[in-house]
Amino acid sequence: MTENEEKLSLLARACEGCMDCPLGSTRTNLVFGCGSAQASLMFVGEAPGEREDATGIPFVGAAGRLFDKYLYAVGIPREEVYIANILKCRPPHNRDPRPEEEDACIGHLRGQVRILRPKMIVCLGRISAMRLIKPDFRITREHGVWFQRGAFEMCAVYHPSALLRDASKKEDMLEDMKRIAEKYRAYQAQSANE
Ligand code: URA
Repeated sequence: MTENEEKLSLLARACEGCMDCPLGSTRTNLVFGCGSAQASLMFVGEAPGEREDATGIPFVGAAGRLFDKYLYAVGIPREEVYIANILKCRPPHNRDPRPEEEDACIGHLRGQVRILRPKMIVCLGRISAMRLIKPDFRITREHGVWFQRGAFEMCAVYHPSALLRDASKKEDMLEDMKRIAEKYRAYQAQSANE
C-alpha cells in the first residue's frame, strides 16, 4: 500500500460511522470516494444517489454510466482519477443537499483533497461548483472556465444527470471534457519530465 492509499483508507475508516448530520441515519452505505490515491485529477459530484447508496461507490448509476462514456471518449481512464462527492450520504429521494449537511460533510472532502493534492479539481454540476469554486457560480455561463484556487486549477462541467434530462447540453460537455483531458495530459507530460 502506498502512503496515500494508507492515509485515504484511514480517513475512510474514520468516516464510516459518521453521524454528523441526519443523513447518517438514513444511508445504506457511506460513499467515501474511489479511484487512484495518486490522482492528479479529481472529480467532485454532489451526493450519492440510490445506486451509489446501495453499493458505496460514487457515480455507478445512470448518471455515472453516462459520465464513464465521457471519460472513455476523451481517453481518461476512470481508475487513474479520483471521484468523490460533496456529501458522502444520500439525501432522501435525491433532493438537493442542504447547506447544513454540506457544512457537516465538507471536512471529509477537505481531508481527501489534503491527501491527494490533485493538480486539477473538476466539479460535476452547479452544487459542487457553488461550494468549491464560488457561491454565485452559474453553470450555464461558466462551465468549462478555469479558476485558480490556491494550488488547484478548478473548473465545472454539467452534472451528468442534467445531460440525461437535456441532451442539448451534451455537445458542450464533450468540448469541456476534451479540454480537461488536454490539460490533464499536459500535466502528466510535465510531471514525467520533472
Ligand atoms: N450524482 C452525484 O452527484 N454523485 C454520485 O455519486 C451519483 C450521482
